[in-house]
Amino acid sequence: MKKLVIANWKMNGDLNKINADLGYYANLPDTNGSNVILALPYIYIVWAKQRLLVNSQIKLAAQDLSHYRNCGAYTGKINGEMLKDAGVEYVIIGHSERRSLIGENGPILIHKVRNAFDSNLTPIFCVGEPLSARSDGSYLQFIELQLSGLEDIQNFKDIIIAYEPCWSIGTGKLPTLAEIQEVTNFINQYMQKRFGYVKISVLYGGSVTGQNARDILSLNGLGGVLVGGSSLKVDDFVAICSKA
Ligand code: 13P
Repeated sequence: MKKLVIANWKMNGDLNKINADLGYYANLPDTNGSNVILALPYIYIVWAKQRLLVNSQIKLAAQDLSHYRNCGAYTGKINGEMLKDAGVEYVIIGHSERRSLIGENGPILIHKVRNAFDSNLTPIFCVGEPLSARSDGSYLQFIELQLSGLEDIQNFKDIIIAYEPCWSIGTGKLPTLAEIQEVTNFINQYMQKRFGYVKISVLYGGSVTGQNARDILSLNGLGGVLVGGSSLKVDDFVAICSKA
């Protein structure tokens, strides 16, 4: 089975780029598969779903959702039901940029995961250590703490966990394959022990490119990759998808 390739466009792109890139992907065998998921900025999702991906197997993710579940007076927020209505199937939760720039913390993220499950969206829950925890050797404890909040959730469903070391995101600094394998094995074991009754995929993200994707994707038990910068470069993204 092909491994997942998820593109996180972050706050990038415009209508011209969306039309050009998605139009191209929808016609290529390597990129037009159900293992390819695009996390676009909110405002382009409906357009992508209803105009560009009509005959495509490519799936859509949102980059976030509200921790408020029901509709109401929450200016600027988007909830899980709205995402579902727009054709979204996955949602990124707890990306390190939101944790560090917006200060999203444990309980809010757990509400978001719960809301995603309630709306039948598959969460892509991101974890990963800062450089300090890598340097002092406490990275597994750090990640265990990030995962531990999930144990409060009752209605657990299929989930994707993305291991994204903060020091690798957007830096071009790739951990060694052994380092990626160690942490993704740890996450897999942690999750299987507690939630073995659902489908769990563990991905890697951080400085993935067309050049290093083959080695990363060949790691044992790894479910795929979450790609930032390289997902904005058509050639690089096609190269990554061709290795999945
Ligand atoms: P880069 O691929 O740019 O390092 O970003 C990774 C990421 O944050 C994906 O969510």
